Amino acid sequence: MNVCVIGSGAMGSGIAQVAATAGHTVFLYDNNPAALQRSKDKLAKIMNRLVEKGRMDEATAQAIQGRIQYVDSLYDFKAPGMVIEAIVENLEVKRNVFEQLELIVPEDCIIATNTSSLSIAAIAAVCKDPSRVLGIHFFNPAPLMKLVEIIPAIQTDSAVLEQACEQIKSWGKITVVAKDTPGFIVNRVARPFYGEALRILEEGLADAATIDWAMTEIGKFKMGPFTLMDYIGNDVNYTVTETVFRSFFYDPRYKPSFTQKRLSEAGYLGRKSGRGYYDYREGAQNPEP
Ligand code: NAI
Repeated sequence: MNVCVIGSGAMGSGIAQVAATAGHTVFLYDNNPAALQRSKDKLAKIMNRLVEKGRMDEATAQAIQGRIQYVDSLYDFKAPGMVIEAIVENLEVKRNVFEQLELIVPEDCIIATNTSSLSIAAIAAVCKDPSRVLGIHFFNPAPLMKLVEIIPAIQTDSAVLEQACEQIKSWGKITVVAKDTPGFIVNRVARPFYGEALRILEEGLADAATIDWAMTEIGKFKMGPFTLMDYIGNDVNYTVTETVFRSFFYDPRYKPSFTQKRLSEAGYLGRKSGRGYYDYREGAQNPEP
């Protein structure tokens, strides 16, 4: 089965790697040629590192890379059995892409979105056949994170749900079926984690490094909230918070933070842009906890 991925950013690239590693021919499309090139270069780096560390042989690394075709048009998708969309977290943009997609893919193709927070029902509703649409939500980085949330919309056919779960499990993932509610399971639980950390920072009780240190050293979390937000991307994380806040009818528990909004507006997106709560540029000094 051919797998097609839309969006070659952090998530789309990772999902393409997962599917190619499982042996599928993958078509990876982005409307930004530079993003496609970055994705290709990043995969080459990851594969080289795995070979250097002896975790993968050269032939396998080459085969995985060879299975991914980087395309600059949706019309280059060849006989897809499953399409996973991982573009910008914006309902209108996603709905546009889904409308176009339906004209291109075969009738039995499953169409999935990797959205973190948007309504699957609202995305599916633009399709003539919404019964084949569902959410398949990977976590970052997709090749390493085992959990995948599978989210049927009210329109989704139960056979499509079953088929999607089987497919994702066959890629070595653990699936959990979640309801089509804002943030599903993990992102909903995670909102107060980020939100409360930001409030502590804004109230001047502790700085980012100290909060992260407390959560990792004492709380035994793998990453502190600020390190994690910088990893996810402050643009992506802020948008998800805003969507969840709006979707829960402005429940103050999910209120977004101006600190994060400003970072995002300034282009301080975290690791991917070199600066966020921390400074990742070469030679930069970051405060100790
Ligand atoms: P990103 O910003 O790294 O990548 C998005 C890519 O989509 C970019 O390369 C952009 O050029 C492309 N794009 C935008 N509009 C497009 C269009 N109309 N057609 C084709 N390509 C288009 O974003 P990221 O982090 O990969 O997120 C993508 C999706 O995955 C979002 O829905 C996000 O909520 C979700 N997600 C993000 C996670 C994260 O930790 N970053 C985790 C799980 C889900």
